[in-house]
Amino acid sequence: MVNKIEELLAQVEAFEPKNAAEVEEFRIKILGKKGELNALMEEFKKVAPELKRELGQKINALKNRATERINELKSSLGSAKIKVDAIDDMTRPGAAPMDGTRHPISIVKNQIVEIFSRLGYTVAEGPEIEDDWHVFSALNFPLSHPARDMQDTFFVEKQSNEPNVKDLLLRTHTSSIQVRAMERQQPPIRIVCPGRVFRNEAISYRAHCIFHQVEGLFIDENVSFADMKQSILYFAKELFGESATIRMRPSYFPFTEPSAEVDVSCNLCGGKGCPVCKGTGWLEIMGCGMVDPNVLEASGIDSKKYSGFAFGMGVERIAMLKYGVKDLRLYFENDVRFLHQFDSAL
Ligand code: PHE
Repeated sequence: MVNKIEELLAQVEAFEPKNAAEVEEFRIKILGKKGELNALMEEFKKVAPELKRELGQKINALKNRATERINELKSSLGSAKIKVDAIDDMTRPGAAPMDGTRHPISIVKNQIVEIFSRLGYTVAEGPEIEDDWHVFSALNFPLSHPARDMQDTFFVEKQSNEPNVKDLLLRTHTSSIQVRAMERQQPPIRIVCPGRVFRNEAISYRAHCIFHQVEGLFIDENVSFADMKQSILYFAKELFGESATIRMRPSYFPFTEPSAEVDVSCNLCGGKGCPVCKGTGWLEIMGCGMVDPNVLEASGIDSKKYSGFAFGMGVERIAMLKYGVKDLRLYFENDVRFLHQFDSAL
């Protein structure tokens, strides 16, 4: 009987099944009701009492080892079987990789830039960390203007005590790019300036401390308010559809005179009034105005010879109006379920 036990133990150790079915067959042969182990138990009943203790221990050890080995083989062959199953059907379509899509802000920014490029505008860019001159002083902001205040502007701490290191800040608008362009070149100037801007605003559904703007500048001889109005009307029709109309309301910016706020007819209700336009039929889309002669002179452009207009808009806002997005924070959350709704060639 000892021999039989040892022989079975050797079989258990040497067993190398090819698949899970073989393991099951082996389990039935050894541990099954009519299996080897139960046969041994039957024989064990007849064994002399003085041998029972030693033999009993041996049978128990065999049983434990066989159970352990079979479970091991089952689990390793079981998982291997899943892997084999996955490629069993070679015709099964694979899991499609998810295509990336452009961010809605990039799509709308590109559309805006593309429309103005048809009018001969080229893209100009500039630094996000700017100095006071290019963001405020050259743009005719009085020293006491509230936009210079800590409330609105993020100032950059100086890393150096050298007196010639200027006051640095994060640009609050991309008008700074226009100043740089005017300093660099003489008219005619026709540029659009897309970029990120920063303002110390509480984050809400309609405001963020980081957002995107596209501003524009056109300077030449004899540029009039009518030229500005027509350019903006063309832009509004291209972006919001042929039936779009615009209206201008008087406004104030330190760097333009006269200045206006531009509204476009609400594209959702066709001007009849709806919750998006708050019943007015109009949506505010940008600020604009004739460049103040002080601004031209500050950048070395002869204001007697040249005139021009400038405009600026927030890309998040335009994208909200175009797509009916109600919460601006969605643009920053990177939720692919949101971002995947805006695919576009641009
Ligand atoms: N720079 C202005 C802003 O950020 C927008 C603007 C640009 C207004 C040009 C008029 C002319 O709000």
